[in-house]
Amino acid sequence: MKEKELLYSQEVIAERVRELADRISRDLEGKDVVLIGVLKGAFIFLADLVRSLTIPHTVDFVRLASYGSGTVSSGEITISKDLETDIEGKAVVIVEDIIDTGESMAFLQERLRKRNPASVQICVLIDKAERREKTVTADYVGFALDEGFIVGYGLDFDERFRFLPDIYEIKEGKQ
Ligand code: IMP
Ligand code: MG
Repeated sequence: MKEKELLYSQEVIAERVRELADRISRDLEGKDVVLIGVLKGAFIFLADLVRSLTIPHTVDFVRLASYGSGTVSSGEITISKDLETDIEGKAVVIVEDIIDTGESMAFLQERLRKRNPASVQICVLIDKAERREKTVTADYVGFALDEGFIVGYGLDFDERFRFLPDIYEIKEGKQ
């Protein structure tokens, strides 16, 4: 049986998201900013983040598909839902739920750079070091995590638990 253990409470998350929004607002003031949310995991994080930003910006979404199971990305990645706006000359901030192996962000960063934006930055809620394979450096990191599989606040396990306001680590329970 699986058990959940509270990792980051909604209060702690809200405080950290506000801090990230403050930094982004300071760093990108005066730029033509577009935030790109990576579906589905980042939808709640993005929704909270934009409501704390104090600079004008637009929002767009991409969805990535990777072959393999729901929890492990295999490295074979495609864009299954592309942007609907032109990012040429814009200050792009990718907003992602979690970086694990780094494959998804390495792929997306490279794809977006080909469209000649002024800059491409990454804002990630959770930077997980355990399985990193690609060198990806996020510019804005909510929480750094050594290991574990986590759910809640947009993050899922087989499409479940996204709605939970707090973030939990999934543990194998005792029999
Ligand atoms: P990466 O390409 O391995 O960095 O994969 C990142 C993606 O894998 C994230 O956007 C999530 O969709 C998923 N993922 C990785 N670790 C977790 C986790 O602990 N909980 C939920 N989803 C995860
Ligand atoms: Mg994701």
